[in-house]
Order: sequence, then C-alpha cells, then structure tokens
Amino acid sequence: EKGGFPHFMLKEIFEQPQAIQNTLLGRISLETFEIDLLQKEIDWLKEIVKIYVVACGTSYHAGLVGKFFLERFTQIPVEVELASEFRYREPLLHERCLFLGISQSGETADTLASLRLAKEKGAKVISICNVLGSSIARESEIVLYTQAGPEISVASTKAFTTQVLMLLLLALYIQKIKKGLNQYPELIEKLLHLPVILQEFLDKSYPRVKEISKKWYQAKDFLYLGRNILYPIALEGALKLKEIAYIHAEGYAAGEMKHGPIALIEESFPTIILAAKETGLVYEKTLSNAEEIKTRRGPLIGITTQGSEEVKRLCEDYLEVPQVPYEFLPIFYVVPLQLIAYEMAVLRGCDVDRPRNLAKSVTVE
Ligand code: F6R
Repeated sequence: EKGGFPHFMLKEIFEQPQAIQNTLLGRISLETFEIDLLQKEIDWLKEIVKIYVVACGTSYHAGLVGKFFLERFTQIPVEVELASEFRYREPLLHERCLFLGISQSGETADTLASLRLAKEKGAKVISICNVLGSSIARESEIVLYTQAGPEISVASTKAFTTQVLMLLLLALYIQKIKKGLNQYPELIEKLLHLPVILQEFLDKSYPRVKEISKKWYQAKDFLYLGRNILYPIALEGALKLKEIAYIHAEGYAAGEMKHGPIALIEESFPTIILAAKETGLVYEKTLSNAEEIKTRRGPLIGITTQGSEEVKRLCEDYLEVPQVPYEFLPIFYVVPLQLIAYEMAVLRGCDVDRPRNLAKSVTVE
C-alpha cells in the first residue's frame, strides 16, 4: 500500500509530480495554451472587486502564496485569512466579493463555517478541495478539484503543491476572463513541463536532504526565513518540522529579523534561509538578512536557485533548486522542506504518518 516507501508521507512527497500532472490534465489547451477551469463562462467573475482566501494550516499557507498570483494576474485586491478568525469577526462581504475556500479534506469545521457565513452575506463562492463530494465541495457554487489523490499521511504535502498550482491556474484563468485575452501563454506552456522538472529535482535533492538532516536533526530550534513568495514557504517549512519532528520552528519574514527575532540568534540556533534571484529586489535584501545572522554566529542552511552564488558563500550547507519561473518557486522550495521535516522526524524516531495530538481532518473547532 505504501508502494515500497517506508511511510505514506514519503510516498506522497514523491507523488507530487504525478499529482501536479493530474491536476493540470484537461485544464490547459495544448494548442493555444489557454486555461479552462469551468465548463461555462461565469459572468459574475468579471465583476469581482475583492477576494477573500480563507483556510487553515497548510491550506492557509497555500492561500498566502495564492495572493501573489491572484493580485499579479487579476489586479483584484486579495485578503488571506485563517478560517478560525474570519468566521468570528465581521468581514465586509457583499455580492461582488469572491470567497475562495481552500481545504484538502473539505471537512474542516472553521473553513466550512466561514463559507456558510460568506454565502449568507451574498458573496460568490469557489472552493479548492481534494476530496470529491466533501461538505465544503457540496456547499460551494464552484469547486476546483486538486487531483492529488488520497492523502493518508496527516502532514499535508501533495495537497499543498496542487493547491498552489490550482491557485496559479485560477489567477491566470480570471486574467483571461477579465481581459478577454490570454496574456501569459509562455508561462502556461512552461506549466506543462513542471512535472518532469520536479521529478528530476526530487530524485536529485533527496540524498542531499539526507546529509543535511543528519547533520542538524539534534538542534532544538529552527528559524525559517523567506521573503515575498517564499515567505509563506518559510511558514510551511516550519509547520512541517513542528508537526512531524516535534522540533520548535518558526517561520519569519526575513525583513522582520531586526524587529525582534535576531535576539535569538546564537551558535546553537540554525536558520534555514530561502533565497532566489528570481524574487528580484528582495533577493539582495535576503542576502543582507543572512549576513546579519552570520555576524551573530548563527548557522545558515541555504535553499537557493542555481546561480544565486552569493547565498552559498554565507551558508554552512546549501541545497540547490533548479532555475524555474518565479511562479513555480513555492512548489520547488517547499519540496526540500517537506523532505527535511520527514528525514529529521525519522532520525528522531517519530511516528511520521501519525504525529501525536493531530487528526487528519479537523471536523470540530
Ligand atoms: C498540516 C496539515 C493541516 C491542514 C489543516 C487544514 O500538515 O495537514 O495544517 O492543512 O488542518 O486541513 P484541510 O486542508 O483539510 O482543510
């Protein structure tokens, strides 16, 4: 049942190229590179003035990535919110708002309650779900299914990367509907090659992840730093390490270091720094954040794209990600972080697929 893998989590990490392939299937025209997500054109999509993305946990992190895509391609302001917060405040909802719920299981109580609230206030509703016919799917006008296949491991991996992909597809789709023209055929064409490149990267990086994990798994705390589209990935990397390996970890926006967390830095507190030239201006900024940590003798582990040489010089260890379009960075950067959490958990003797105190589907508040 685990297909030769020792745990479901590892199996599901390695299933990601296939999950992405399946999620893309039938949604991109191979001739025109047009995205088609809905069978018929929905008129109200053109009238949306505000998007609320609402989810919990890992799905919330996918939402944070989605904000970058949605704002960049649709020019519609986006707010991303934790469902447990959203449902208990008074969000300003009306009929030109789009409520976008994200849930792997489709059963998360807070996300479902938020969706009901949004509907009651007249907002339009789309959900991104992985489980067919789940409660959230049934109560949504439109459901975009991620085709990740069943996710057995409690820690979400392939659901996350397919959610990120679906958010990119949706952003590009709304772009086309609004403008009446697909402005990004080259990017969409590149999406078709993503599964193959990801597969190569997985195979190549796993031995390196093992080395890094072996060296660092006894640390008591980890800091994960990123900026821009890699900031949500820092949050996700830290969440994975906490839930699977029971190591205290914090994800932080690298630019916030000097506003507090840098006080923690010392020799025994490693930082995993996510840096990519593809993020433009903030790459240089991330470099200076890394330098500040090095000056305070904090060990640095870098995840960088090929060609981001400056980061490597500062890091005790690093792992290289292939050069991919900016929009694909979150998918490529989260994979080694999933693997690091997995490896460290195994080395620490944790029950990887069934971490203590956690349930796969959170159907109560
Ligand atoms: C973390 C994890 C959880 C879920 C969260 C939301 O690995 O699995 O944080 O992401 O409970 O679950 P769904 O997506 O089913 O609503």
